Amino acid sequence: MTTYITTPIYYVNAQPHLGHAYTTIVADTYSRFNRICGDDVRFQTGTDEHGDKIAEAAEKENVEPKEYADRISGMFRDTWPLLQITPDNFIRTTDEEHIAVVQAILQKVYDKGDIYFDEYSGLYCRGCERFLTEKELVDGNCPDHQQPPQEIAEQNYFFRMSKYQQQLIDHINANPDFVTPERYRNEVLSFLSEPLEDLCISRPKSRLTWGIELPFDDTFVTYVWFDALINYLTGLGYPDDEKFKKYWPVAEHVIAKDILKPHAIYWPTMLLSMEVPLYKKLHVHGYWNVDDTKMSKSIGNVVRPKELVAEYGVDTLRYFTLREMSFGLDSSFSSEAIVARKNSDLANDLGNLFSRSLAMLKKYCDGVVPEPGAEEESDILLRETAEKMLPVYRESMSEFKFHTGLRSVWELVSYANKYIVTNEPWALAKSPDSKKRLETVLYNLTECLRLLSLVVKPVMPETAAKMVTALGIEADDPSVSLLDIGGKWNVLKPGTTMRAVEPLFPRVDVKKQTDKESQQPKKQKKKKEKSVPVDTEGLITFEQFKDVELRVAEIVAAEKVKKSDRLLKLTVNAPEERTIVAGIAEYYSPDDIIGMQVLIVANLKPAKLMGIPSQGMVLAAKTETDGEERLVLATVSGRVKTGSKVA
Ligand code: ME8
Ligand code: MG
Repeated sequence: MTTYITTPIYYVNAQPHLGHAYTTIVADTYSRFNRICGDDVRFQTGTDEHGDKIAEAAEKENVEPKEYADRISGMFRDTWPLLQITPDNFIRTTDEEHIAVVQAILQKVYDKGDIYFDEYSGLYCRGCERFLTEKELVDGNCPDHQQPPQEIAEQNYFFRMSKYQQQLIDHINANPDFVTPERYRNEVLSFLSEPLEDLCISRPKSRLTWGIELPFDDTFVTYVWFDALINYLTGLGYPDDEKFKKYWPVAEHVIAKDILKPHAIYWPTMLLSMEVPLYKKLHVHGYWNVDDTKMSKSIGNVVRPKELVAEYGVDTLRYFTLREMSFGLDSSFSSEAIVARKNSDLANDLGNLFSRSLAMLKKYCDGVVPEPGAEEESDILLRETAEKMLPVYRESMSEFKFHTGLRSVWELVSYANKYIVTNEPWALAKSPDSKKRLETVLYNLTECLRLLSLVVKPVMPETAAKMVTALGIEADDPSVSLLDIGGKWNVLKPGTTMRAVEPLFPRVDVKKQTDKESQQPKKQKKKKEKSVPVDTEGLITFEQFKDVELRVAEIVAAEKVKKSDRLLKLTVNAPEERTIVAGIAEYYSPDDIIGMQVLIVANLKPAKLMGIPSQGMVLAAKTETDGEERLVLATVSGRVKTGSKVA
């Protein structure tokens, strides 16, 4: 099979931010996913370099538009490798080949009679680079750029978009997947339920020179959208190149909802006029917001991908964006959210599974994957969790439901962590009688890691590579690079010998992070706080409270501490396993509390109690019954995922 996936070509009037990064990560992940499905994939991104906005930005910096475009386009191009984004083609609308094809297409559409000359006046938004209808305005402003549009009246060339309205409606009705998710398809159909106006496709050179000249009138340049959309074809060497014949029939575009109209209406009607088959699918996602406002260069509330990579690592950024955003809906960005995902899903869940499993393989089997024995109940459950995950993963990834795909993968991660606790390999290792059982458990864990390395590969290529290396498998081995071969259970070959392990996700120290963030902006705040006339003696600040990490832990084992009638030694999952010594033996017997979810302070410095190292503290309420003091364990009112943070 063949895949052709594109991102928008980004305007070069500002540097890349998280919004651009997200779309491009999505397209890259989709490419990598289709590659592990065995597809021949082409992935294209690039920059959109003509038009008012660019000319204006260049003028501000006192440079020629082309020089300015070169600089910013270079920044986009240089950002992608930092995010492990590897496009097959990076197109620029200032490329000569692109310009020539845009002119040829204009001529063809003109000759056909689909372009005419007329007088026009309308409301133009410079941010959108298009005329808006009255209906689109909110309080007289463009809703995206929060500025009033300009009233512009001039003579221009028009594309007969209205001529293709019915054909487009029919196409959308006949092809339910043409625009997805469905909410955007409905939005397009609703827009098409009213008569379309023709599209103004030129700018007089008296107003703008930074554009592609109309081949039939050299006093005009092309409107930026007519130029920009055609990149999806010129990047394939349209009309004559083999690449066009091979990839265009499967073209899929990814965009955010800001440019839905140009992609779902202008572009297909242009293609109809050009007599080029329509693209296959348009995938539309929502906005990354900061404090409920769209992250945008015109508002200035942007987060730079480069800085995020430096702070959290590339795979964390990729995982976070794909897991956090339900494709199609808006999402909020915050450093707390990314730290939380990193520490819990990545460091605790996947990272610990990986390091614990391989540490045990090394300790108990000399680092060599053993031959498994007969399956027992927990083994069957582990295998079935994996087998249930695979079709969900495949379907979700191919339908751009990355969050759903990753959620199902993490169900396996979490079951595998439970599997360790259930099977207690360290206990099995104590007796030669349970050697085969131990080997079965370790085989299953390493097999699980192999499978995980394959399914996380499109999202986290570096992590997958580290896992595969540690497992002692070659990177191009089909078991870790092709879903048809590796997307099964019992694929890992016994005898495979592991190599040195490096930690996958060093934890982000939440305390350090908060200190750093509070350094500058908060100074001012503190001053303010001082002037508030309330008695703050004995109170702590939110920052101080945030330093205490409370979590929900599940008690998996408990025993009395010898020579103490007060202490119980607890083994808890939080979600990683740890030992906590608690002074509750007078009130609880071990059997009472196994399986209970309790609250713990998770970031307490380890201490030794009766010679036993204790990693954390269990919380309990002090109460009194019949004049006798008693401790009652603090817990949550409903079952939650072990390790959940308490905030
Ligand atoms: O529109 N959240 O370029 P552009 C999510 N040149 N995605 C965002 C985002 C946000 N807050 N902000 C930007 C153009 N994006 C035209 C496109 S295509 C033929 C021409 C992403 O630089 C998202 O993909 O304004 C959005 O559609 C695109 O950047 C707009 O980029
Ligand atoms: Mg924009």
